[in-house]
Amino acid sequence: MAFAAGEPCLLMDGKGRKYLLALEAGQEFQYHRGVLPHDRIIGANPGTVFDSSLGSKLVALRPRLADYIVKMGRGATVMYPKDAAAIVSRADIAPAATVLEAGTGSGGLTMVLARAVGPQGRVVSCERRDDHAARARELITGFFGSVPDHVELRAGDVEDEIAAVAPDRVVLDVPEPWHSVEPAAAHMQPDGIFACYLPTVPQVEEVARALRASKRYVDIETVEIIVRPWVVEGRSVRPAHRMQGHTGFITVGRLVAR
Ligand SMILES: C[S@@+](CC[C@H](N)C(=O)[O-])C[C@H]1O[C@@H](n2cnc3c(N)ncnc32)[C@H](O)[C@@H]1O
Repeated sequence: MAFAAGEPCLLMDGKGRKYLLALEAGQEFQYHRGVLPHDRIIGANPGTVFDSSLGSKLVALRPRLADYIVKMGRGATVMYPKDAAAIVSRADIAPAATVLEAGTGSGGLTMVLARAVGPQGRVVSCERRDDHAARARELITGFFGSVPDHVELRAGDVEDEIAAVAPDRVVLDVPEPWHSVEPAAAHMQPDGIFACYLPTVPQVEEVARALRASKRYVDIETVEIIVRPWVVEGRSVRPAHRMQGHTGFITVGRLVAR
């Protein structure tokens, strides 16, 4: 399907540099190698190669959700796609599930969860800061065109919402997830999964201690996801010189009956 005004577009130059833009009639993309009017991209198919005003090639791609998340101008620190993907698999976020998430932050993980549960599911995302919530709403709209009907952005603390939502999954990217361990044990659906993402070891220790002390969780695991990109160019096939340093740890526990 051709690009339309209002949707995001990822331009990639000959060196693999990527530029994210929101297509708007009458606007121009400007960079160090010239100018490309948005009107030339609107109506063209993704994959079309354009010449900039200085004759440099730019290919227009529809951004993958992962491209959009790492390139979107964010407010709160966004969760990297490698970690969001691991949460989807380890917390088994499946179509039609009800997920309670916090904090919304920039909405990066919210978008991944929204896709994973699909329109038959439900994502309730809580955020205690109004500025972060407003930015997340803009960023989610920038990708999907609007906040999807199955995504609800709520203001306030996640701990206060668990009972009302009674989710299948609780997924937290907040500094003190241990406050949600008991409320999640009391109000998640049977077979529920609690997952959290934390940047430091003391935080992981504290949440693991809370999960064990509750005696309502089993299969408690912590992982760190390390992705090593490779250069594959002619006979130069080797790990890249740079890789993403530390991001965070993912801890998951599965709910059992009382
Ligand atoms: C690191 S950001 C989350 C980023 C998000 N996962 C993303 O991918 O864009 C953490 C957010 O949690 C919010 N927060 C912290 N504690 C909270 C709580 N108890 N309930 C709701 N939001 C909370 C903060 O205001 C902040 O916006």
